[in-house]
Amino acid sequence: MTSAQGQLTLQEYLAEQVRAVDNALEHWLPGESVEPESIHRAMRYSLFAGGKRIRPILAMAAANAVKDSAQGVEHAAATLEMIHTYSLIHDDLPALDNDDLRRGLPTCHKVFGEAMAILAGDSLLTLAFEVLSRLPYTSAETRIVLVQELSRAAGTVGGMIGGQVHDIEGERKEPTAMLLESIHRAKTGALLRASVRMGAIYAGASQRELAELSLYGEHVGLAFQIIDDVLDVEQSSDTLGKTAGKDEAQQKVTFPAVYGLERSREMAEAERKAAHAAVESFGSRADRLREIADFIVLRRA
Ligand code: IPE
Ligand code: IPE
Ligand code: MG
Ligand code: MG
Ligand code: MG
Repeated sequence: MTSAQGQLTLQEYLAEQVRAVDNALEHWLPGESVEPESIHRAMRYSLFAGGKRIRPILAMAAANAVKDSAQGVEHAAATLEMIHTYSLIHDDLPALDNDDLRRGLPTCHKVFGEAMAILAGDSLLTLAFEVLSRLPYTSAETRIVLVQELSRAAGTVGGMIGGQVHDIEGERKEPTAMLLESIHRAKTGALLRASVRMGAIYAGASQRELAELSLYGEHVGLAFQIIDDVLDVEQSSDTLGKTAGKDEAQQKVTFPAVYGLERSREMAEAERKAAHAAVESFGSRADRLREIADFIVLRRA
């Protein structure tokens, strides 16, 4: 599969973007020998355990849909991965989903203990905003808008934490379509939408471009969590690198629980198409965004 935007296949493009994000993360993360060493080891353990880096990649692809070259966007993008990794470390804690496996490795609290895992999450969250405030290559005004985008998406009102609250409180409740929507739009959708928006804002998108890209972000955000729920049912822990079958065991409100697997896949497919439609006016500049939407729905892990 080649793209109109270059000769790289999607796989090569994703690998290249992962490298750019990892280099940016490496730039900002204190080394393992920096005091206090234990916390820096725990932060780096979870951050560099792998992961698809889909949020920063979305940010960079959105920036490139707006502008050919958005210098330094990988630094803004890296902050999304810091927030995401913090959310995973905390999501896995015994008090939340109580998971032992993440990104193919024992979870942060299994290796470093609960106290250090809580602190590693806290410190990745804090570092994300330090980095945004210090972003090179962009104006103070843009930095403030980016801080606003990320903090709102990660927050309690319609954001990631709000969604996690609904998710936890929804356990063992009757899985209704309404509860499902409020959980998923917030716990995962908000950060994916913000990823696209942050890239677009970084690149100086117009109001119209930002509105269209936001809509794309909402559709891929929902598609992403539908597929996360589907894979939890269909795949093995080995393939996922995290414990499969957890949602049913914990009686979570998920797409398969409400709609069944087949209908859930159809709904993800509808979101994929809607994501494509949202960026129609961008023409070939949004080719990578279209490919990423496809990847999100077709992925196996
Ligand atoms: C998993 O996210 C948790 C959700 C928000 C659904 P990812 O599937 O992006 O996890 P990594 O980053 O690739 O490990
Ligand atoms: C996690 O959702 C969402 C956040 C971390 C905010 P899940 O609990 O479904 O994620 P996995 O399946 O453990 O990766
Ligand atoms: Mg969870
Ligand atoms: Mg979980
Ligand atoms: Mg899940």
